[in-house]
This record gives sequence, structure tokens and C-alpha cells, in this order.
Amino acid sequence: MKFFIDTANLEQIKEAQALGILDGVTTNPSLMAKEGITGHDNILKHYKAICDIVDGDVSAEVVSTDFEGMVKEGEALADLHPQIVVKVPMIKEGLKAIAYFTEQGIRTNCTLVFSVGQALLAAKAGATYVSPFIGRLDDISTDGLVLIEDIRTVYDNYEFETQILAASVRHTMHIVECAKIGADVMTGPLNAIEGLLKHPLTDSGLEKFLADYAKGNS
Ligand code: G3P
Repeated sequence: MKFFIDTANLEQIKEAQALGILDGVTTNPSLMAKEGITGHDNILKHYKAICDIVDGDVSAEVVSTDFEGMVKEGEALADLHPQIVVKVPMIKEGLKAIAYFTEQGIRTNCTLVFSVGQALLAAKAGATYVSPFIGRLDDISTDGLVLIEDIRTVYDNYEFETQILAASVRHTMHIVECAKIGADVMTGPLNAIEGLLKHPLTDSGLEKFLADYAKGNS
């Protein structure tokens, strides 16, 4: 499973990159705003800065909602850097834009996906990634992981190449469960990724090893 970090914070991206397990970055307009990145030129500069830190795919989201606008924005984003994947919302115009980008060889991430039907359409249009938002489904008492399972089944039934990118990951167990189901990618915050490191038996075991070493070498 590929690991993406879901943030526009450069320090956190650097920290995740330093762990040696990072495969890419996802961002969205809210994450950009959270870092105080506003204005077209600054946003483009920020995407470039992210691409300079990581080796993998960097999702950059369009903010137009009409086909022409999405195409114009998406083409400019794709031209920015070879690592850019154009992130497009799952709406009618977005679907058309994904099909267009697929034909042009521009990679896409279909975002704001909350149902199997939407994921099926994204795959039919040739999206590189589909982003089901599991945390936001959990928020409304619907099991987000069941959606990942169902999309996995449908994509496997027809051997769709679209990669399932589990998004809106909120905590460490989301990552573990997504890996068990067979999501191709997960994108989550740094603390959820670092949670995978933790085990009290690792800490107490190491403490004992170091204490025994110190006894024998003092
Ligand atoms: O990857 C999608 C993500 O940015 C949304 O996460 O936590 O706002 O639902 P959240």
C-alpha cells in the first residue's frame, strides 16, 4: 500500500519524507488555506515546493466547477511539474474533465467520493486514483471502511486499473484496516502514520536491552 500524507504543511511533509516511507502528497483547498497559502501564484509555488520535497505523486485540486474551467486549470497544474496529479471533484462536469484528461494522458485523482456508484464512474472515465472519504462517512454514522471494501470488490470484478486512495483517514487503525482490505493507497495526517510505530512492548523491550547492555559495559 502506498502512503501519502494529507497536508500542505511543508515541515510535516519533510518529516514524513525523512521516515523513508512516503510515496506522495494529497492537498485540497482547505488544507492550503489552513497553511495560509492564498492567491493563484502562491498556490502554484507551494505545489512546486511540495514536489521538490517528495519523489512521488502530488495531488493538486482544481477549483472550477465547469468543464472548460477545470480543463484550463488542470492543464496548467499538470504543466507545473511531472509529479502533479490533477484532483477533480466527483460532479458531472468533473467526470467529463476526468475523461478528457485521461485522453490527454494527464493523471487524475477523483475526489469527494462517497459511494460505489461514484467510484464506478470515476474508473470508467479512467481516473488514476479515486478518493473515497472514509472519515467523513464515519462522521455521519456510515462505516467508511465498508465503502473501501465494496469499491475493492467492484474494481477487482472488472480489473479496473484506477487505484483506490483511501482519503479522509483520521487515525492509525483506519490505515491498518485499509491495508487489510487492500486499498492501493492511503492518505492521512502525520500523527496517524506515526501511530503505526508505537507499541509498549517495543519500548519496554528496548529499555531492558539497553539496561542489560549498560550493566555489561559499565
Ligand atoms: O483526503 C481528504 C481529506 O483532506 C479530507 O479529510 O479529515 O477533512 O475529512 P477530512
